[in-house]
Amino acid sequence: MNLHVKFPSGGFRGLIDSYTHTRGESIYLDDIPEISGTLFGACFDSPIAHGVIKDLDYSEALKSEGVVRIFTSQDIPGRNQIGGIVEDEELLAESKVHFCGMPIALIVATSEESARLAVKKVKVKIDPLPVITDPREAKEKNELIIPPRTFKIGDTASSFEKCAYVFEGRADSNGQEHLYIETQGAYAVPSENGSLKIYSSTQGPTAVQRACSKVLGIPMHQLEVDVTRLGGGFGGKEDQANAWAALCALAAFHLKRPVKYALHRMEDMRMTGKRHPYSSDFKIGLSKEFKILAYEATFYQNAGAAADLSPAVLERTLFHCTNSYFIPNVKATAYSCRTNLPPNTAFRGFGGPQGMFVIESAIAKAAEELKVNASEIQKRNLIRTGEEFPYGQIAVSEANECWVKAEELYELNKATQEVRNFNAENKFLKKGIALMPICFGISFTKTLMNQARSLVHVYSDGSVNISTGAVEMGQGVNTKILQVAANVFSISPDKVKINSANTFRIANTSPTAASAAADLNGRATMMACNEILGRLKIVGAKELGCKPDEIEIREECVYANDGKSKLDWKQLVMLAYTKRVSLSEHAHYATPDIHFDLKAEKGHPFSYHVYGTGIVTVTLDCIRGIYEFDSVKVVHDFGQSMNPVIDKGQCEGGIVQGIGWMTMEEIIYDKEGKLKSNALSTYKVPDVYSAPKQIDVHFLETKNNSLALFNSKAVGEPPLMYGIGAYFALRNAVKAFNAGSLISFDAPLTPEKVLMALYSGKS
Ligand code: MTE
Ligand code: HPA
Ligand code: MOS
Repeated sequence: MNLHVKFPSGGFRGLIDSYTHTRGESIYLDDIPEISGTLFGACFDSPIAHGVIKDLDYSEALKSEGVVRIFTSQDIPGRNQIGGIVEDEELLAESKVHFCGMPIALIVATSEESARLAVKKVKVKIDPLPVITDPREAKEKNELIIPPRTFKIGDTASSFEKCAYVFEGRADSNGQEHLYIETQGAYAVPSENGSLKIYSSTQGPTAVQRACSKVLGIPMHQLEVDVTRLGGGFGGKEDQANAWAALCALAAFHLKRPVKYALHRMEDMRMTGKRHPYSSDFKIGLSKEFKILAYEATFYQNAGAAADLSPAVLERTLFHCTNSYFIPNVKATAYSCRTNLPPNTAFRGFGGPQGMFVIESAIAKAAEELKVNASEIQKRNLIRTGEEFPYGQIAVSEANECWVKAEELYELNKATQEVRNFNAENKFLKKGIALMPICFGISFTKTLMNQARSLVHVYSDGSVNISTGAVEMGQGVNTKILQVAANVFSISPDKVKINSANTFRIANTSPTAASAAADLNGRATMMACNEILGRLKIVGAKELGCKPDEIEIREECVYANDGKSKLDWKQLVMLAYTKRVSLSEHAHYATPDIHFDLKAEKGHPFSYHVYGTGIVTVTLDCIRGIYEFDSVKVVHDFGQSMNPVIDKGQCEGGIVQGIGWMTMEEIIYDKEGKLKSNALSTYKVPDVYSAPKQIDVHFLETKNNSLALFNSKAVGEPPLMYGIGAYFALRNAVKAFNAGSLISFDAPLTPEKVLMALYSGKS
């Protein structure tokens, strides 16, 4: 099967969107032409993090130029509730506010400027209540979103007694701003009989549909949600696009006019949740031979003021708390702690990276105490096929293959020696090197979400139109789905068009998340295409006087028993149409054989795991505390990549985003719960200068991937976790300068923290 789809204009294009992107023709929410009479929304949001609303006075705002109406919780015809997993989140604050940035009122005006001007004229009196920003404090006060969960295998207590070495410590990782280029937003247009069409920048069209249905108190069939593409989501629009869509829907419902609200960058940063900060304790026990015999971890997740997706994120922290290692005795407990910050949410890796940072910290601590390279411990404990994860799934592992290949390909011994030589020769410049193995489970951890549908139409001219629930956000899912149809039918890709994700064409969709969109929606598309192909073969066989299974389509020509026939693709399609054979199909795919027992905390939640090994090298300026990443070299388990251009791009993007999280992106809330890093001038993401000078991605072709689309393993999230290696490379560079540094396991390791660490612990 030739998966590398060729475009008729010659050559291979990685992404079908590249053409319109580079010409500025791609349509995002803000590019949708506004219907005349469109109104614009803006939120008045809480200036303080916790308190009781005593008085809300918007009389001045109402008089402000262009203002049409102001909505509060009182105007909600259905339920003032947008909590997905737990019903604990009001769309508009009723009597209490729980975080700075919590929407209190929606102002609707004839222009964006008028709406935002009026926001400034709203006055509110709030009696303050105590503010919690720290998850450990929240846990102490029993402010938990859900009861704690514990994953367990073997018996840690008795195992520690048998360990030659036991180390304990604490590790903290901070949040991360999604910083999708396109901010959150929605556009709601009223239609007949009280129904609405909602354009939303969301990863989850059905989530938006459900939220609007709940808020308006109307059935889901009245709500058409349409998503053409996103300018990035990264998890931030899995759940948190709902509020803005519901606000637009609320206003459009009452005013019977189209209403649009696209957030400004600072509103987005202030009002929306981010990656969860975690504070964690660990205890690790090793044998004399550096086998990890026992591991305990306690995770305090900073959930923010409402559940949002936190319980699911918490679960994935536990699933990935041993990263790619086999540890026979594990006990990991996780608390989802309620604080007065905006509700934190999905972010590439979905809690997994936070769990992996802790085990890597534990290994680093052990290595430093034992005066060996962490890689000595890492390598010896990589999980092997047949070994068990703490949650009961048996590994089909590529961990060793990836590691060994990386060692060879990138000449690890030589690279390590070069770092040593460099450090011996340089006093104020130090290099650090670290290895980062990864292991990430593919599937939504909630089994029921692993389903998808695809609607395929073949038109009488032979062109094909496909709808699924997958949302294109730069990750290339539409291109992969297009490849499916082009391959099953063996037709030119330019005969295939991928439609917007739309709740009237595809119902009950899972969000485009968990890296599973291509697997789920691609599989459903494959089923639908195969169904239509089967019908076409029957038609062809009748016409050509052979059996259906003797018919084959190759590059738009119809073959009977390997001989080229008089029919081509177009003629076959037309023939089927004239014979009144259906040229459309709606197929349903559900990932087979996955299950999880929440009582026992055991099961087989993932269809497969993705593995890899990264080697990160950094050069540190020990006078200034600034650093540059020389290279990130990875061997990544792609299965058999169906689109290397896209997959390489996902690796590069994920790596840089991971490095940003671990080394420079610093979210700062003050004690009052106010976001200090609330703009791009105070929140630094990697730019072209801070990205690694070299990123090498080696495609390790692996087997055991039959559940992946075309054996091509999911790629969206896993590469982010190579970025964790950046923290440890940098830490090693600091230790090379000052072996006694009191550097803590506290990410991001910003230049400021590096500078302090370089000169800490010295008498
Ligand atoms: N890549 C781009 N360019 N933009 C994005 O928003 N989101 C990531 C990843 N890669 C994202 C991205 C996240 S969080 C996920 S879960 C996957 O893409 C989702 O898409 P997939 O399931 O098609 O891999
Ligand atoms: N991953 C990503 N998003 C999700 C998941 C998951 O496992 N579960 C619910 N939303
Ligand atoms: Mo990705 S965090 O699952 O949207």
